[in-house]
Amino acid sequence: MAIWNLGSINADMIYALPHMPTAGETLAATGLEQYLGGKGANMSVAAARAGSHVCHLGAVGPEGAWAVTRLLEYGVDTRHIAQLDVPTGHAIIAVDPTGENQIILFPGANREISADQVGAALSAASAGDILVMQNETNMQAEAARVGRDLGLKVAYVAAPFDAAAVQAVLPYLDYLFLNEVEAEQLRDATGKTPEALGVADVIVTLGAKGARHYDTTAGTTHDVAAHSVVPVDTTGAGDTFTGYVLSGLDRGLPMAQALAQANRAAALMVTRKGTADVIPDLKEVQDASF
Ligand code: RIB
Ligand code: NA
Repeated sequence: MAIWNLGSINADMIYALPHMPTAGETLAATGLEQYLGGKGANMSVAAARAGSHVCHLGAVGPEGAWAVTRLLEYGVDTRHIAQLDVPTGHAIIAVDPTGENQIILFPGANREISADQVGAALSAASAGDILVMQNETNMQAEAARVGRDLGLKVAYVAAPFDAAAVQAVLPYLDYLFLNEVEAEQLRDATGKTPEALGVADVIVTLGAKGARHYDTTAGTTHDVAAHSVVPVDTTGAGDTFTGYVLSGLDRGLPMAQALAQANRAAALMVTRKGTADVIPDLKEVQDASF
């Protein structure tokens, strides 16, 4: 089986700051590092490092070849990444001493993906493969519809949150990932609780409290507690979690086991500065002691 990821690819500029900037403030950073990132690329690297075959569907600009090379090095199938005449996406990420972040996103090429590109890539997919998307690209609704028609399992991460974008893909979804804030925003937009959205599996991440899985077919919920770690940089932990959950399902694990493994991967990620380049592989995740 394979995972198809219609996903963003960004250059992450991560600035270490003494505190989060306030309006009108000029603030000197104490450090700057550049990583491969983007919620899409992070998920692809996580799922590939967990052991899945991952085909990334996305776009970079004329100067984005380094990002494609790096994805390839991390085991991601990059043949469906387009190189366009639009700047590569980038993210300016502020991280404070508690590991919290604030992100300014420049979508660039990530939002210039064509319907033809999506159609051509997904025509190589097989029924039962997983398709995952988040909201840093365009073409999500188109891909979700095509994916559903082809018999793929369709997963969506509602970040960055946009109520209209989630509602456009909702009818095609098998899996929906939300954080607590997004779950609340979606409830406001639809008037529905996570279990009433018509999606078979809804996973709500709860930060330091772990995650909750709503199996709406069985009508059950299942909680996974987070491992307690000292946070260094939470950036990319959520994407690592999702990539590991989907890879677990792709590798045939029951949901509870996929969630437990993902939870360990995310905890490790919180202790590491950086994004895609520092996502742990399955052995590191299994060997970690918390
Ligand atoms: O979720 C973290 C990611 O959000 C970063 O890698 C950054 O690129 C933004 O997309
Ligand atoms: Na991190």
